[in-house]
Amino acid sequence: MSEITVNGGALSLDGVAPHTTALDFLRDRGLTGAKEGCAEGECGACCVLVARPPADGSPGTEWTSVNACLISAASLADQEVVTAEGLGTPDHLHPVQREMAERGGSQCGYCTPGFVCSMAAEYYRHDRGTSPSTNGTHPAEPENGFDLHALSGNLCRCTGYRPIQDAAYALGQPPADDPFAVRRTAPAPAPRPTTLEADGAAFVRPRDLAHALELLADDGAVAVAGATDVGVEINLRGSRPALMVAVDRLDELRGLDWTGDELRIGAALSLTEIERRLAGRVPVLDELFWQFASRPIRNGATLGGNLGTGSPIGDSPPVLLALGADVVLVSPDGERRVPLADYFTGYRASVRRQGELIKEVVVPLPVAPLTAFHKIAKRRYDDISSVAVGFALDVADGIVRDAKIGLGGVAATPIRARDTEVALAGRPWTQQTVDEAAAVLATEGTPIDDQRSSARYRSAMLGQSLRKLFAESTEEVPA
Ligand code: FES
Ligand code: FES
Repeated sequence: MSEITVNGGALSLDGVAPHTTALDFLRDRGLTGAKEGCAEGECGACCVLVARPPADGSPGTEWTSVNACLISAASLADQEVVTAEGLGTPDHLHPVQREMAERGGSQCGYCTPGFVCSMAAEYYRHDRGTSPSTNGTHPAEPENGFDLHALSGNLCRCTGYRPIQDAAYALGQPPADDPFAVRRTAPAPAPRPTTLEADGAAFVRPRDLAHALELLADDGAVAVAGATDVGVEINLRGSRPALMVAVDRLDELRGLDWTGDELRIGAALSLTEIERRLAGRVPVLDELFWQFASRPIRNGATLGGNLGTGSPIGDSPPVLLALGADVVLVSPDGERRVPLADYFTGYRASVRRQGELIKEVVVPLPVAPLTAFHKIAKRRYDDISSVAVGFALDVADGIVRDAKIGLGGVAATPIRARDTEVALAGRPWTQQTVDEAAAVLATEGTPIDDQRSSARYRSAMLGQSLRKLFAESTEEVPA
């Protein structure tokens, strides 16, 4: 019998359909604090805490905020969950709840339980106050070390955010006898092989990679890691995979190895895990992470998922294309390594065959000295790009020795800006070169008009992106 520990008590998963979200599961059992706002990972009204191994790889447990509207209840089998109801009670408010109440951080209250869970996750971050969790692009650190990016996935219609920020910045460190703080010192629940079947569908957490590949040979099988894409397909597009195969805890997909000439990133590591474990060693990835959706999404989303869905506006492909990354695909027949530049074959299509799984992403080292990720979107955080550009330029002694540029949002697939790369290679890194190459860059791809922007705007932004890179690299302001 499978169950989930919720707020310290066991809830049975017997008879729960594999497509039932954790949010519906909790609300059906009376835990109605978590709300459904958008059902697609954009508002955070559904956030709850899950006990996970710390993202930085240290021992113990980290309370991690996740979007309960996206993950299936089945994926939480044998795990520990805490909802806003479990943090405190009206008579004994949790410190986060108290600060939110006293500082006016809650008005209509619809968003509040989700905010409280995301804020509590950051409240309990074991290195809060001693180590920032994001790169230098994030807002200035307050005295208590609270990283506001922890709340980047939580939207509020009422407060204007200032009282919520005040509440976050007023938090001290948890008292030593705080039960959630104490819980951090013991290991998080280990994932166990699980099979849950109901309503003609199944959710399987396989024993190992070989078992996963065996299951994925089935035509109706779908690999699921953080469910940040599959969950949207299920909630909003009526997708009902017959077999969901959980790959997020497979050890074989969770390595992060930095050798002399390669960085190998496991396809099932969450983006938060990659960010914390790399700890700034690849600055352009740090530029990417804070712009990739939100913290609760990054706590589940993986590079394997972002490449596996093959979206032309995924955030990671432009950066990985610029870095010259390869993708390692694995199947029962063995492994093969494909340059990412050859991976995408059409709209949401790739060379990945049925039953093949992305095992890891390999980035050649050293990374070029001049890198950047420019995401042009309507909102700064938690948005979909109109255009995204990844740059990796090897500029030495004032000459561009090599240039790799990845683009998203200007074609049916992410692409390399090959003509622009040629226009830059071997040329002096000057305003004139940049202006000429920017004119070429503005012609790359086949941008279209849609609700996010016009084709003309997209092309213009491509050119501007290179000028911005030059201006920032030389600290000059372009004319
Ligand atoms: Fe909006 Fe889950 S309901 S993020
Ligand atoms: Fe009303 Fe946040 S308090 S949506």
